[in-house]
Amino acid sequence: MLTMSEVNLKDKLVMIREDFNVPMVSGQITSDARIEAALPTIMQALSAGAKVVLLSHLGRPEEGRFSSENSLAPVARRLAQLLGRPVPLLSNWLNGIDIRSGEVALCENVRFNKGEKTNSIELSKKMAALCDVFVMDAFATAHRTEASTYGMAQFAPVACAGPLLVSELEALGRALQNPNHPLLAIVGGAKVSSKLHVLEFLIKHVNVLLLGGGIANTFIAEAGYAVGRSLYEVDLLPEAKRLMALAKQKGVIVPLPLDVVVSENISEAAEATIKSIEQVGPAEKIVDIGPKTIAYYCELISQAKTILWNGPVGVFEMTPFSKGTADIAQAIANSQAFSVAGGGDTIAAIDKFQVADRISYISTGGGAFLEYVEGKTLPAVSMLEQRAGETSHLV
Ligand code: 3PG
Repeated sequence: MLTMSEVNLKDKLVMIREDFNVPMVSGQITSDARIEAALPTIMQALSAGAKVVLLSHLGRPEEGRFSSENSLAPVARRLAQLLGRPVPLLSNWLNGIDIRSGEVALCENVRFNKGEKTNSIELSKKMAALCDVFVMDAFATAHRTEASTYGMAQFAPVACAGPLLVSELEALGRALQNPNHPLLAIVGGAKVSSKLHVLEFLIKHVNVLLLGGGIANTFIAEAGYAVGRSLYEVDLLPEAKRLMALAKQKGVIVPLPLDVVVSENISEAAEATIKSIEQVGPAEKIVDIGPKTIAYYCELISQAKTILWNGPVGVFEMTPFSKGTADIAQAIANSQAFSVAGGGDTIAAIDKFQVADRISYISTGGGAFLEYVEGKTLPAVSMLEQRAGETSHLV
């Protein structure tokens, strides 16, 4: 791929596709990790003397009309604070953009435009005609074939990858394509169904796969243990069986929890009880991994040379059920391995347990991270690859 640092940006109108799809509660941004991650690229373009115009979506609004809850106004305000300069929010930007070199502006939510989600050729060409250079830096949206990701990369006069996209692909590539072994993955979260392909891909690539959350419950049930009222997917039991057989065939270690934390209800005041895996009662829910499992998982983590983490191993948001995820986070932080973590809940856990500075790479991607870990090609990345041989940026 052509990268942004290879392109002369001076006095060019440079449109950068960001992922500012940040979590919001009552109009307030609750995590600005994605905004922070975009800053180095924006500053690099500004220092190169570009006219910097930022694009992003926020949420999933109905196309063709404005909705205030999906407005990027709070993001523009936060960007202005972080960059220490004005960041105007442009509403009618499709009709033309007036900006000077060394200035930065943010376009209103790209998903307010009809044709964005369907990757309309007409819209893509209209947007592409506004810029001299298109920089795709939104790794977290690179799995979407939309006008401001794929379409812009296809039709912009010059299309290149931004530094954030490049570093995300490098980190994930280092973990999955060219890892130091043992390669260990931790996959938690609610449902096997949402991570079926991830689990399958990982079993084909890793040495050790640690399961947690509702995903582990489905595997525990498949192994013949009672799971009480725990979250698990009965229709995915045959898949769990198939994946365990695949793991056996590939020589991958997929240990089931030896013990678990159970509770009859899920609340801050709930009583957490440790049970061995054979002892879960009919009224109980598995809400975390138990101490023996934590010790075993942490031992395996300490032996790994590369670690990939997606998904908590328990209901870590509630103090009585947070120990498993907290200890796993600490074990990853303490290890010497190259570690990569991604996904919304995982990042929330990393923040909660304050280990961010000791994880080698934290991805901004949610769905995109999972699609990469499924072995899929990200469409916006393949379009940049297709255009790699072009020389238009040399003009
Ligand atoms: C994400 O948060 O995963 C990305 O911003 C993509 O958002 P989408 O799922 O609404 O396309």
